[in-house]
Amino acid sequence: MDLQGFPLPPNCPKPGACIRVERPEEGLAVVYLDPPHRKLAVLDAPLLRDLDAVVQELQQETSLKGIVFAGAEPLKFAAGADVEGIGGISDPSDAFRIVQFVHNIFTNIEKLKPTTVAAIGGPVPGGAYELSLSCNFIIAADDPKTRIGLPETQLGIIPGWGGSHRLPERIGVPLALDAIMTGRLMKAKVAKKRGMIDRMTYPHKLVELASEIAMGRLKVKRKKRGMAKWLVDRNPIAKAVIGNKVRKTVESKTRGKYPAPLRALDLVLGSGGKSRADASRLEAEAVAELAVGSICKSLVGIFFISEAAKKFARGNDDFRPREFKNGAVIGGGVMGGAIASLAAEKGLSMRLIDLSRDALDAAQVEHLQVIAKKRKRRRLAPHLADGAIDRLTVSEQMDGLKHADIVLEAVAERMDVKKSVLGQLAEKTPSDCLLATNTSSLSVTAMAEGIPNPERVVGMHFFNPVRMMPLVEVVKGEQTSDEAAIEVAALAARMGKTPVVVKDVAGFLVNRLLGPYLDEAVRLFVAGADPEALDTLMLDFGMPMGPLRLLDEVGLDIASHAASSLHDAYGERMIPAAGIQLLATDDRLGAKTGKGFYQHPKERKNKPTLCEDLHKLQQEDGAKSLNKEQMTDRLILGMVNEAARCMEEQVTATAGELDLATVFGMGFAPFHGGLLHYADSLGIKEVVRRLEAIAASPDIVARPGGVAKFTPAAYLVDLAERDAKIFA
Ligand code: NAI
Repeated sequence: MDLQGFPLPPNCPKPGACIRVERPEEGLAVVYLDPPHRKLAVLDAPLLRDLDAVVQELQQETSLKGIVFAGAEPLKFAAGADVEGIGGISDPSDAFRIVQFVHNIFTNIEKLKPTTVAAIGGPVPGGAYELSLSCNFIIAADDPKTRIGLPETQLGIIPGWGGSHRLPERIGVPLALDAIMTGRLMKAKVAKKRGMIDRMTYPHKLVELASEIAMGRLKVKRKKRGMAKWLVDRNPIAKAVIGNKVRKTVESKTRGKYPAPLRALDLVLGSGGKSRADASRLEAEAVAELAVGSICKSLVGIFFISEAAKKFARGNDDFRPREFKNGAVIGGGVMGGAIASLAAEKGLSMRLIDLSRDALDAAQVEHLQVIAKKRKRRRLAPHLADGAIDRLTVSEQMDGLKHADIVLEAVAERMDVKKSVLGQLAEKTPSDCLLATNTSSLSVTAMAEGIPNPERVVGMHFFNPVRMMPLVEVVKGEQTSDEAAIEVAALAARMGKTPVVVKDVAGFLVNRLLGPYLDEAVRLFVAGADPEALDTLMLDFGMPMGPLRLLDEVGLDIASHAASSLHDAYGERMIPAAGIQLLATDDRLGAKTGKGFYQHPKERKNKPTLCEDLHKLQQEDGAKSLNKEQMTDRLILGMVNEAARCMEEQVTATAGELDLATVFGMGFAPFHGGLLHYADSLGIKEVVRRLEAIAASPDIVARPGGVAKFTPAAYLVDLAERDAKIFA
């Protein structure tokens, strides 16, 4: 069963059940989106079916003066369109029909004679905000949970239910473009400033105030755009200039891999002066094309896996994680300082402990600077900024830990140092305090040995730079309890990160996969591949940074050390390339010494340039005979093969989580949907065929460990024999 191409769910409520209409006074109708089958309304087929019917009924009522559209609760308006439904659409004509059906409802709302007011609050993304845009006024609940915006381009589609023409109409082309291209969800205050909403009020006053406005007893002034509107929106030259600038930015950021932002750009620029019917048709055509494409499917897939990761962090019926109040970090260097700072910002009272006064001073200065910057940019309200600063205290002694809920060690990467720190912590903290480690290469299981209550020792592996990198690997040692893993995941989620639980294997997941990739890049370079072409090849593939540039950022010494650890753990298939050791000298360690593969100017805003002396490290032949596809295969399929071994060892519970970690931990091209989705898109038989071909090539046969690296993993061979996919 479907509704205009939109599948009705198996637990579909009866017609009329998703919407409640109340009449608190004569002339006023309050329409509550309140579906029985969801905790938070979603604009899915049953709700849209009922909304359509209610709006048609309201059209017939001549005595109505005002109509309010509200959520079941002030901070539960609606979570937007049914993303699962979008992910399931495979026929463009279905997508077209759905969009036109919703347009029809929203246009009917727009045409209603009574004054219509949307009373929104909580998350109001995409379709939910587009519904609001079809009302005369939008009133939002003033609460940190309120987040308003049009994030559709992040899912590979466009705001297709009126957003790409009603938003520019409301706030003008430049601001609408910013909202749509970034897909950012904005706080009520920001949305108000931009004219995306008309007023804010306390959540408990939301429906009351909206009703006053709907009944005409309270006037609302819409922000005037007078001159700006004339200068930009009605001026084709100004629009062309803005359009070109935005197009250039999008093209350089996406390297032509993501069609949705450019479609959205065209729609917004062309939106002025079109009839509703024409604007709607153009939106429907764009959605029909994009929603069935592989990029949208990949991005929707990532969305669902990351939602599942967040759900894991909320616990289950048997166990709900504590909300940590007090934490500590031992080791205030590059990682520890940033982790403590972020945790303090997110509400934990943090103690930062380091033997070195200089390290503590530097961490505190950094914390003050980061918070001051956020305050200046209005990302943090003054009282929250003050709180964040007050919550971070520092000490050179192991003290102030009596009430700690969690202590994370981020001291030097040496087992003896870490074990000694954990031993002291076990004595100074309550027995239920989690002992987390930020180690990037040591065994969590070994670290927990001899520690009382080892089930609370758990890896919490942040990536560098801490504030920017979205992934945290939650590493379960052999004795780590499920509860400890959930609580660390919950803390990571509270800190704005996406947690993925991984097994305690060398390199965990992300560094284990990056190993063969970076190693191969060094080998191709040494064998004569043009370094710039090599980095560009991977940028074109969709990686955020070329591998040689990434090596510079990681640090050639660290990368070399990590490569040796992987070699120790995995044997010949991870024998490190000699090139990197040759390169790594005291003054040539990458970005931190100003020179690696690239020359890094002191001013970070200036782009690094390739070093001119690199050819000295290169051999003349080898990689020059490889074409782009062959080089891509060596770089990426080497990683796929290692990922397949991780699947055999169940390093993550599911292939989806492995993919999520590749996207969030190494920036693996999201439009591919993750590393394993990429393998599926090639076809596993083809992956095996190509790996076998690489393993048989003379230079790989001659390379120690080359055949072991590229011989297809049993996991892939088995899938290929069954002609099966990783994601069934
Ligand atoms: P770092 O060298 O910048 O900082 C380590 C800090 O620990 C220093 O300030 C040192 O004074 C302090 N320290 C050493 N022993 C101590 C002790 N017994 N008690 C108190 N403080 C002590 O190191 P970084 O880069 O911050 O790394 C820390 C940990 O994070 C390591 O385990 C590393 O493997 C891991 N990591 C590092 C990443 C990176 O990119 N730097 C990325 C992910 C993890």
